[in-house]
This record gives sequence, structure tokens and C-alpha cells, in this order.
Amino acid sequence: MKKIMAGSLMALLALSAFGCGKKADEKPAGSLFTAGTYTAEADGHGGKIKATITVTAEKITEITVDAPDETQGLGDEAAKAIASMILESQGLGVDVVTGATNSSNGAIKAITLALEKAGADIEALKKVKYEKETVKQEDLTTDVVVIGAGGAGMAAAVEAASAGKSVVIVEKMPIVGGNTNRATGGINAAETKYQEAAGIKDTIQTFYDDTMKGGKNLNDPQLLRILVENSAEAVDWLNDLGAGLTRVTLSGGATNPRIHTPEDGSPVGPVVVKVLSQKLESLGVKILMETTAKTILTKDGAAVGIEAEDASGNKFTISAKAVIMAAGGFGANSKMVESFRPDLVGFSTTNHAGATGDGITMAQSVGADLTDIDQIQIHPTTDPESGYMFTEGLRGDGAILINAEGKRFTDELLTRDVVSANILAQTDGIAYLVTNAEMKEENASLAGYVKKGYAVECASAADIATLLGTDAATVEATLKTYGEAVKSGTDAEFGRTHLTQTLENGPYFILKVTPSIHHTMGGLKIDTEARVIGTDGQVIKGLYAAGEVTGGVHGGNRIGGNAVTDIIVFGRIAGQTAAADMK
Ligand code: FAD
Ligand code: FUM
Repeated sequence: MKKIMAGSLMALLALSAFGCGKKADEKPAGSLFTAGTYTAEADGHGGKIKATITVTAEKITEITVDAPDETQGLGDEAAKAIASMILESQGLGVDVVTGATNSSNGAIKAITLALEKAGADIEALKKVKYEKETVKQEDLTTDVVVIGAGGAGMAAAVEAASAGKSVVIVEKMPIVGGNTNRATGGINAAETKYQEAAGIKDTIQTFYDDTMKGGKNLNDPQLLRILVENSAEAVDWLNDLGAGLTRVTLSGGATNPRIHTPEDGSPVGPVVVKVLSQKLESLGVKILMETTAKTILTKDGAAVGIEAEDASGNKFTISAKAVIMAAGGFGANSKMVESFRPDLVGFSTTNHAGATGDGITMAQSVGADLTDIDQIQIHPTTDPESGYMFTEGLRGDGAILINAEGKRFTDELLTRDVVSANILAQTDGIAYLVTNAEMKEENASLAGYVKKGYAVECASAADIATLLGTDAATVEATLKTYGEAVKSGTDAEFGRTHLTQTLENGPYFILKVTPSIHHTMGGLKIDTEARVIGTDGQVIKGLYAAGEVTGGVHGGNRIGGNAVTDIIVFGRIAGQTAAADMK
């Protein structure tokens, strides 16, 4: 329910220079628009956003936006939300959707241009403000309340609702999906039918060993065992919901290809969020958007609900038999990051704005214990300006890293803590990811980076050298040596074993990169059934947790692709345990 707070457009236009819009003389006297249907385009985050508006002389009757290149489930939804706010308010005084600024601005611009074609007085329309109606959320009672509509929270809610429990989810942002929306490279799983079909020999034990080694042996062995043993089922479960995760490639630190993505290599997160949202809708699960959980309510030491705040700042309570904490990590809370890791001052983040660690502080205040809280990961390949992440999958597909001098300096498929450290040791902490046209054909994520303008196209090694400001002979020699390593199957320089692309011919697509804060491995201590453990070593009754808000699974360094496995495996377990415990 929304309402328009400013005066009506007719009244505003009466006061403004009515009829002085661009096409005023084409409009019948006294009307706001020239009736008809108009289209216009503007740049969004990933490409062009097209707006189509239909107007009568006095009213905007329809607005549709086509945003095929925006992040699925996030940017495209933001563009639609903007269109509906403009239609409802009949004005252009709308705010951008948090977390989707470029897509929102692209939609506003496209609609504005279309309205301009319809002869609208744009300045007057901008004065018509859209604001939300202040509807006070009443107190609620439910079986299960889930905090956070990311992948872990939604997976938990699906399981609890499927077990016949009533479920309410609270989500503080205007869009569901959290960091899960951003997941790109894929979901790890071993002994899947997709690996088998591709002739990949992998075992659950190798997956366990790789993760334990990558995590510097800090991982909780029991949690890790649950993760790897349930990984193939997690992929099947998502695919049964329609995710289509059938392509298998390699991520850093993995002995065998086991990261599963959509068939075209496009990002995994948006499809996970989409299928979980659809399932929740079919189960009738209510998500209270822009609603922030503030405190966990307890009685005799057990969690019995939450206090939350709605979009208008009204406080209300949700009484519940179980509270599932799935509020994600704290990678976007620089103060919290720096408090645990003073060495990470000044790094950008790849995380969405809502990753502020609320779940950790909330659960701590009811006695929850923490584990590995200072284990924070930086991702090697992110845009130096914005922290926007370029997937590790590109290195799995064959990309190499070179420094400003045009030389390779690392096995690109080592774990990301090592690759990040190796990049930071180069001039200005900068490296260049070298990809090519073949990779762009096969990986929709790379095609997206090119479209968004992150990648510079270079026809040849000499062009790459010009871009870097170094000499052509060095870059030519680097590519020649690497090409020979791929052909011979031996990388004598750095010992890379996954050798696929010779990178002998351009065109190349070059991405400038530096590491950014990416994943907070530490968090709430849980048992293998996702029950939260208190500082006294006992389970806190009624309180469950899953996903990035928890610690222990990933140890001292998360392997790429393991977080999505984590949120699905432990999200499902949290929902199942919560439902079973209340029988
Ligand atoms: P989130 O998805 O972050 O969801 C938590 C939700 O809780 C959010 O919507 C948040 O707004 C909400 N919330 C927070 N506080 C409150 C509150 N007080 N009240 C109500 N709601 C609240 N992992 C992989 O395995 N593979 C990948 O390819 C991959 N790529 C990644 C790419 C990027 C750019 C990033 C940032 C991460 C990537 N990861 C990847 C990591 C992975 O996406 C996350 O660890 C995982 O999705 C976290 O899921 P979650 O459900 O625990 O948290
Ligand atoms: O590089 C990536 O695609 C990120 C993967 C991850 O964080 O697991």
C-alpha cells in the first residue's frame, strides 16, 4: 500500500509553466501528454533498459520496462519497482532501490525520456514525490520466524514450510537475495550426475580434503563432513526446483572440476534466488520486506521470537516456536571487519549493503558463541574502483594473471588467500586478468563484464602491452611461454596443472584487478543440525542458524563455490531441525 505525499500532478502543473514542455504545441490545450505509446532507452548496470509508456492526455496508463542485461532478480526487479512507483504516483519523484542504484537510475532515465517524447513537463513530474504509506505492522505469531531472505534463510523456510509449519521471513532490504544474489562462479558438489556425465572423476573424500587444506585445517571436521556428503543432493534439490545447474568447471583449490553453474556459465546466485522465491510463493510463505530484526526474544533461556522494526520505524514482535538466524555475514561492515582484522583497513568490498553482521551481534546478546570470527577472506579479482567481483570461474576456464610489467607471477588456481597475497605483492597491488574471445563465447559472466565496460578489448599482445604501459616483447614472451606450457601440459614456471587455453591469439579481454573483502568465514557456532551453541557449550533452545552468519564450515579460507553449498545444505537442515524440534 503506497500513497503519494506531494500535491497532485494537475495541481503542480497548474503552478508550473504548464504547456512549456518540449512538445507542448503538439498536445491538446490543457492536457499533460500527447496520447499514445512511446519508447526510450537508457544505460542500466548491465546494458540498455528499454521503457515503453502508454499515456492518455491526462494520465500515464501503462509502463513496462525491459531490462534483459540487469542482474536477474535484482536489477530487473528494481527496474520494475521503479516503473510501478512512477505509474502509481504519476510522477518522477522516486528514490532508487537500495542495492540496485544503476538499474534504478537507468529505468528512471528511460521512462523520463519516453515521457519527454509524450510531451510531458519533466520538471513538474519530478516534483511529484512517491512515498510509502506508513502502515503499522501488527504483532504476529508463527511457528518459525526466519531472519534474512538470502539463500540460507529461503532454503530453511522452504523446508520448514514443507514440513507443515507456518513460517514468516523478515528481510531488511527492499529486495530478497542478499549476497546470494551476487554469487557468480557456482556451487561445489562432488559425485554428482553432472560430473559423471562429463567424465569427471571426483570423490566426496577429495572434496573434503581440498576444503580442509584450503581452510588451513581450521574447519570444523563434523560440519565439513555434513557439507560434502550433502553437496550432490543440494544441487539435485535446486535443479528439481528448476535451477538448471548442469555445467561443471574448476575453481581455485579444487583438485577436480566440481563447481556447478547454469549451462551458459551465467551467475549461479540469481537462479538460486529465483527458484527459492518461486517455491516460497507456492508454499504461501510470507516475506516482510524492509523489516529489520532487532532483538531475539527469550523465555527461560530459549528463543521465543523476535522484535523487529518495519519500514516506517514501528516496532512489533513476532512470537515463534523457533527462530532461524540467516542474516548473512559482515563483509560490508568495514568497522566490524577492521575490529577483527586491523590489517584490512581501506579494502573495498564485493558484498551487498545489507551484509552488516546484525545476526552475529543479535545472537551474541542472547548468549551465542562465536567461532573463527577473525577469518575474513579477500577475493583476488575485483575492480579496483568499485570492488565489483570478476569470477574465479574465468581462471578455471583458462584465464591468466599478469602484472603491470606484463609477466605472470602465480599459479592462478591456488586458493584465493594465496592468489590475493600474490597480487598484493605486485606493483600497486594490481594485476590484469587475461581472457579471450573463446572464453567470452563460453562464459556469459565474462560477456557481461565486457558489456558493462569493465574489460578492455586488445587485438594482440602488443595492444595489451600498450594498455599496461609496458613493452610488447615482454607480453609476447609471457603469452608464448604460457601457450607452450599448455601444449606440453607442464607449467614449469608456476606449476599450474589445469591448462586449457593457449591464449595464443586475440582478441583478448583484459580486466584490471585487485583484491577486496569478500567472505566472513567466522560467525555463530552451530552443531551439525544447525542448532546455535551458547558460550556455556550448550544448545540455545529454539535458536538455529545457517549460512554466512555461522562459522566453522570454511575454516581459515573458503574455497570458491563452497558458500552456496553451505547455504543450501545447512539452510535446509536448519528448517528441518526447527520443524522436527517443535513436534
Ligand atoms: P545472504 O544471501 O547475504 O542473505 C542474508 C540476508 O539477511 C540479506 O538479504 C540481508 O539483507 C538480510 N538481513 C541482514 N540483517 C538483517 C536483519 N537484521 N533483519 C532482517 N534481514 C536481515 N559463494 C559461492 O559458493 N559461489 C559463488 O559463486 C559465490 N560468488 C559470490 C560473489 C559475490 C560478489 C559475493 C559477495 C559472494 C559470493 N559467494 C559465492 C558467497 C555467497 O554468495 C554468500 O556467502 C552466500 O550467498 C550467503 O548467503 P546467506 O543466505 O548466508 O546470506
Ligand atoms: O569468483 C567467484 O565466482 C566467487 C566464488 C565464491 O565466492 O565462491
